[in-house]
Amino acid sequence: MNIKEELVSEIASIVGEDNCSTRIADLYTYGFDSSIHHHDPDVVVRPRSTSEVAQLVSLAAREGIPVVPRGGGTGLCGAAVPIHGGMVMDLTRMDVIKEVRVNDLYCVVQAGVVYDRLNEALAPYRFFFPPTPGSGEACTIGGMVATNASGMRAVKYGATRDYVLGLEVVLADGSIIHVGTNTIKNSSGYQLERLFVGSEGTLGVITEVTLKVAPRPKSSAMVLAAFDRLEDAGACVSNLISVPLIPSATELMDDICIRAVNKAVRAGLPDVQAICMIEVDGEPDIVSKELRTVEEVARRSGASTVQVSEDAKQMARWTSARKSVMSALSRLGDDLVSVSLADDMAVPISRIPEAVVAFHRIAEENHVIVGTYGHAADGNLHTKMLLDPCSEEAWRRGERAVGQIFDTVISLGGTVTGEHGVGMSKAPYMMRERPDAWGTMMKLKKALDPQNIMNPGKLMQWEGGIICHLRYPCPDLSSSR
Ligand code: LAC
Ligand code: ZN
Repeated sequence: MNIKEELVSEIASIVGEDNCSTRIADLYTYGFDSSIHHHDPDVVVRPRSTSEVAQLVSLAAREGIPVVPRGGGTGLCGAAVPIHGGMVMDLTRMDVIKEVRVNDLYCVVQAGVVYDRLNEALAPYRFFFPPTPGSGEACTIGGMVATNASGMRAVKYGATRDYVLGLEVVLADGSIIHVGTNTIKNSSGYQLERLFVGSEGTLGVITEVTLKVAPRPKSSAMVLAAFDRLEDAGACVSNLISVPLIPSATELMDDICIRAVNKAVRAGLPDVQAICMIEVDGEPDIVSKELRTVEEVARRSGASTVQVSEDAKQMARWTSARKSVMSALSRLGDDLVSVSLADDMAVPISRIPEAVVAFHRIAEENHVIVGTYGHAADGNLHTKMLLDPCSEEAWRRGERAVGQIFDTVISLGGTVTGEHGVGMSKAPYMMRERPDAWGTMMKLKKALDPQNIMNPGKLMQWEGGIICHLRYPCPDLSSSR
């Protein structure tokens, strides 16, 4: 699709010349998110207000142009890649924190507010928005709602959906609706705010979010447990939960991730088969008690060494080592990059040991390198594949491994995505996971977006394989499944 010049002028009259671009460099740049995919849009717009968003969507509806909303571009599955061209709508200029009402346990923010900025604003009140995504420095609240993002603290504090009280959304016909409430409880009909959580821009543009906030824990402490067997690290997580003890974070890393981080950022992590970084938080006396329990459970689960820290600097070093896994993996081998394939599954917590062992076996059988890490105590794991992105054969092996990994996850009673969303990279597998749900998703999509202009072709609309629209110079393998 190529967009007509008169239309570009009309768009510019809504958002201003500076916030509307058809320059080649801008189109190329906005064709990426953080996934393996890429496709140029026809125009990039950067609205400043809900009213501008509504005018832009009305215009797109009139002209039948695809609209692809986008936050920080940190998504890992291609949800913000405009595969049918059209209008990429960058919402990062809508970055106002409109209200902070901690006595009512909520705040109201525009969709483009960055996660870390919101928590900086909540810090003086001793509150926070807890999910802690790895991309917190750049990802936006709107994007988090659109993917039901979470991260390190979901096991104790829940995911984004657990904090969404209300939303303002611009629907596909340009109308503005408000769903949900400003109250903690609400039984007032369909919980429509939930419908937009995880909708990845396919049902409308989320412009404003009313978020529940939580009190910041007074103190925290961490345990770093090292294991000579990967499955023991998995079992440690499950043993902790059944104490019962709900840690605030439990990060598992296998030997590949440990080696990558030690090489890339000299993290100095123990050179073993797997580690678990376990954080507990709350009132100081409870933290001390829980710390002792975690230490004891780690030893009982087979840890060869257990380090404990209540020192903020040491804990920040460990957390930062964990946060660098994804980028560090790309520096492990000379010609290999870490790609997001089968990157974000979740299984019932007790199945973690089986899952991690199966992923290693599948990697070996398909001659691919897979680094496994993740949040573990909430059942969520990440696998990153290291491959030569210019080799067709490598992608084929990778895709075969993805299919087997997801079949394993589904057979363990899990889901193909715990926190990153579906986009394109997981679409066929989501349909495998939910054979009886996607027909209903399609009906909802048709009801809310009859012209199919909102992020068309994604989720249950996806057809074909996942090795396509690659950002790397390699043939499109989409029809090879
Ligand atoms: C993380 C991202 C990949 O946990 O979700 O680092
Ligand atoms: Zn994660």
